[in-house]
Amino acid sequence: MTRQILVTSALPYANGPIHIGHLVEYIQTDIWVRYQRLAGNRCVYICADDTHGTAIMIRAKKEGRSEEELIADMSGQHQRDFDGFHVEFDHYGSTHSEENRGQCHFIWKALRENGLVTEKLIEQLYDPEAETFLADRFVRGTCPVSGHKDQPGDNCVCGATYSPTELIDPVSTLSGATPEIRSAVHLFVQLEKLREFLSDWIENGDALQKETANYLKGYFLAEDKELRDWDISRPAPYFGFEIPDSPGNYWYVWFDAPIGYISSTEQWCKLNGESFDDWWRSESTEIHHFIGKDITYFHTLFWPGMLHTAGYQLPTKVHIHGFLNVDGEKMSKSKGTLITAETYLKHAEPDFLRYYYATKLTPRVEDLDLGIQEFVDKVNSDLVGKVVNLASRVGKFAGLTGLSETYPDDGAFRKGSRGGQRDRTGL
Ligand code: 2FM
Repeated sequence: MTRQILVTSALPYANGPIHIGHLVEYIQTDIWVRYQRLAGNRCVYICADDTHGTAIMIRAKKEGRSEEELIADMSGQHQRDFDGFHVEFDHYGSTHSEENRGQCHFIWKALRENGLVTEKLIEQLYDPEAETFLADRFVRGTCPVSGHKDQPGDNCVCGATYSPTELIDPVSTLSGATPEIRSAVHLFVQLEKLREFLSDWIENGDALQKETANYLKGYFLAEDKELRDWDISRPAPYFGFEIPDSPGNYWYVWFDAPIGYISSTEQWCKLNGESFDDWWRSESTEIHHFIGKDITYFHTLFWPGMLHTAGYQLPTKVHIHGFLNVDGEKMSKSKGTLITAETYLKHAEPDFLRYYYATKLTPRVEDLDLGIQEFVDKVNSDLVGKVVNLASRVGKFAGLTGLSETYPDDGAFRKGSRGGQRDRTGL
């Protein structure tokens, strides 16, 4: 029977370029989608740029342009890079769209009606020069536990975790100013009220890899712990959607980002004369999300909770992969191993990386190592030595059997004659 499958990759954040680490996921998903189609299934691959939040707001201000101009520019760059790697989406949207605003309103209303929203006054650091509240990553200071200097806003190398308001001598990384402590009302989703549903979905369903289900069970769903309320609002100024029944407050970027999966599908449906309900409100459609392990908790707790409350289909499977290392180490800008898609494409063929990742990926949540020498060897021995060699032999055979007009230049496949390919592997 033909399966109807909706597939998504995580929405890349509009603040940065696509790099070889991101590509693990997009290449993995694209290959999976192509396989499903070859197997005769109907498969639609949806993605979008994730556009909201403080980082975009600050950068746009710094660059003297509007947030809309910045995200349009970044969306163009992202789509150019995905094209360059032959990652073919059926639709590429943006979380800054009217469809996304509409879906956020819809899901929000459902959360309110189900009594899942509460308000709390919380203290947060505020940058008086940049005139904005500061997310944890925009503050550094001295650890209140060990005294280590220049530590991030929420954790220290010593292992301590704390609130940014506890940091000693905090400094805003946006302006260098000393932040002030200010209070603001935030809106929270009470996840604990969804515990029964989440436990059942995680423990009795088939949507998660075993290791992920066990991690969630042992860590978040342990009986002696409460699921913490999820802070889903940010006070103005913030680049995002204002919460309709809480003027001056905006949905936190992580609230509207996954909703982008739905709104981007909605756009695709409009453009292709499809029924939206067939895709997000039909038990006969499978929904497959591909994500990295760092965003597990958004996709396996908050996201199913939101979908369940709003009456949307739940994910059939959340496919979680690990991080990319290069030569056994974390990618690093200073070591030159954080290679952007754009830079890679100036030097090598996209299919080399597609092939390499395909040979290394597994169904487990484990990190993948890009060994540069192994990459060169695999391309030379497998792609050039076997695939191209096979094509060369077949071309020759076709020439001998009178098919030479179809392959007039079989010499192009002779070993070593495609200088470009062989040179490029010598990275
Ligand atoms: O981690 C990230 O880069 C996020 N932009 C992923 C969002 S995925 C989904 F929720 F939209």
